[in-house]
Amino acid sequence: MQVLSRIDEVRDCIHAWRSEGDVIAFVPTMGNLHPGHLALIDRAHMTHAAAGKLRLVVSIFVNPMQFGKNEDLSTYPRTFEEDKAHLEHKQVDLLFAPTPDVIYPRGMQKETRVVPPVLADILEGESRPGFFTGVATVVNKLFNIVQPDIAVFGEKDYQQLLVIRQMVKDFALPVKIVSAPIVREDDGLAMSSRNNYLDADQRVTAAKMHVCLTHLVEEVSRGGDCQYAVMHVMQELEKQGFIVDYVVVRRRTDLAVPRAEDSELIALVAARVGSTRLIDNILFERTAT
Ligand code: PAJ
Repeated sequence: MQVLSRIDEVRDCIHAWRSEGDVIAFVPTMGNLHPGHLALIDRAHMTHAAAGKLRLVVSIFVNPMQFGKNEDLSTYPRTFEEDKAHLEHKQVDLLFAPTPDVIYPRGMQKETRVVPPVLADILEGESRPGFFTGVATVVNKLFNIVQPDIAVFGEKDYQQLLVIRQMVKDFALPVKIVSAPIVREDDGLAMSSRNNYLDADQRVTAAKMHVCLTHLVEEVSRGGDCQYAVMHVMQELEKQGFIVDYVVVRRRTDLAVPRAEDSELIALVAARVGSTRLIDNILFERTAT
């Protein structure tokens, strides 16, 4: 595996592969890799390279632009050596691990930004102003550096996945976006680098998030009143010790409030346990009413 931190080096490497007719698959991450990230790499390996060999590129970059002022940029777990070992093991061809001055050479404030539309202002965007601008800007830049044919994103960050799909469409980027399902711990907690922040008691509480969300999905899929079910789950989460940002049932395609005839839905939750913010979601179907 090559480990590169400069844009020109990455370009040269990708250029050489392309001239051989290789296909480039890309998995962007912020590192501290866990089985959720590694499943994206497996998913990338599975993408069919109709012509040419598949080359797998992973990036590790803790993107300062997507962290709010009071968020965890300075404490975000950084485990570069372990990450590198995981990636070697997964037969990754290139790890791109730039420093902030490579990605934002003129300083973050002076950089051109990608501001995604309305979808980015609700739910995560409302709780974390500027978050999706930071994500879209860095992913756009990483796409321009790596120039992948395929990029893989997790459904764990479902709204992020939709924002990226929209950006790819709007900017006519020649990248196929592939998604991979959420990987969970045995007790249902969605794997996340932020789970590292939880102490033993908080870790027990955190697992209840998925239990509550599952109840919500069961209730709504069997035709229960959505608003009532959401309120009930919100109360349950608060009783368990969560500070809830949102619990919603939305349309899967655009996260709009579902109409009676919409059947492809998603339940999403964001809540804090102590100071750790967790998110989760479940995709499900409802028989149209
Ligand atoms: P990060 O949180 O490191 O996640 C990188 C990728 O892994 C994302 O696509 C995310 O959805 C996926 N992922 C994380 N946990 C997962 C799980 N339990 N199951 C399945 N997939 C999971 O998301 C980001 O980084 C950043 O916003 C990034 C896209 C890299 C831009 O900075």
